[in-house]
Amino acid sequence: MRDVAEIVAEFAARPWLAVTEADLGPAARVPTMLTAEEGQLYHWLGQRVQGDGATVDLGAYAGGSAARLLSGLERSGRPFRVHSYDRFRSSRAFWAKFMPDEPLPGADDADLLPLVRRNLAPWEPHVALHVGDIGQTRWTGGPIEILAVDAAKGAVLADHIAAEFFPALVPGRSILVQQDYLMAVQPWLCGQMVGLRDLFLPLAHVPKVGMVFLSLAPVTAVALAQARVAKLTDGKLMQRVREAAAWHVGMAPRPRFRAMLDQIRANPGVRLGWQMRQAARG
Ligand SMILES: C[S@@+](CC[C@H](N)C(=O)[O-])C[C@H]1O[C@@H](n2cnc3c(N)ncnc32)[C@H](O)[C@@H]1O
Repeated sequence: MRDVAEIVAEFAARPWLAVTEADLGPAARVPTMLTAEEGQLYHWLGQRVQGDGATVDLGAYAGGSAARLLSGLERSGRPFRVHSYDRFRSSRAFWAKFMPDEPLPGADDADLLPLVRRNLAPWEPHVALHVGDIGQTRWTGGPIEILAVDAAKGAVLADHIAAEFFPALVPGRSILVQQDYLMAVQPWLCGQMVGLRDLFLPLAHVPKVGMVFLSLAPVTAVALAQARVAKLTDGKLMQRVREAAAWHVGMAPRPRFRAMLDQIRANPGVRLGWQMRQAARG
């Protein structure tokens, strides 16, 4: 069993960069919003599991993140299962951008499930698709070894995800990927993790905006109260973003935090990513 110092050294070497397209196999053809390096990371994380719990994929879209986790997990030599959560609906604009080879649906809010089932067919017995609003979801599946969060597009949902899923992380073992961590329009993610900074160790920034954390201690109800972000004032949220910038010195680029502060200033009280984006477009 690796201790914390060994895990820090392991991630500092960025071994996922050695993952090739051939390693990904059929996963390489599954459309994804992840960058190439993020895709390598997901595969590598799957491959390195130790059998400490489930793999959870929050925000699956067409199944790209799930496929990359699964292609790694199947090489781990351990029993595995990915729980993918999403509404599994798509706008026409996203469909055209991320799946240009698929026939474009006639209207927005198109059903992604048939495509997702097809994309994940190679690993069908190892996938559980949870269809619906993550904000209404309860986690009752026991310990989680990999938690990839790519759906916390609003502060209320970020709080719900923390409350439901973070207590299932195993200290010293579980990996949390905050996929949108450095996105200017989602500053509550930094706010959340600063509230939990005694319980998580940042391991790596994976460009563009992902941050990988190691769970260090159990996430208790008291910790969750400190991590809540939906009701923070703009001033308190900005303070947490500044603390995050200091916490991640040498790991994450400073301009990313400046961009978050600019977004909060430009969008007083806004706690949904798409609303911030809309205001930014003017
Ligand atoms: C950035 S995409 C995920 C991309 C995916 N991980 C990949 O590899 O391509 C974010 C996803 O989160 C989902 N999502 C956002 N809020 C949600 C909610 N409240 N309930 C369910 N799904 C949600 C969206 O439907 C969308 O598919």
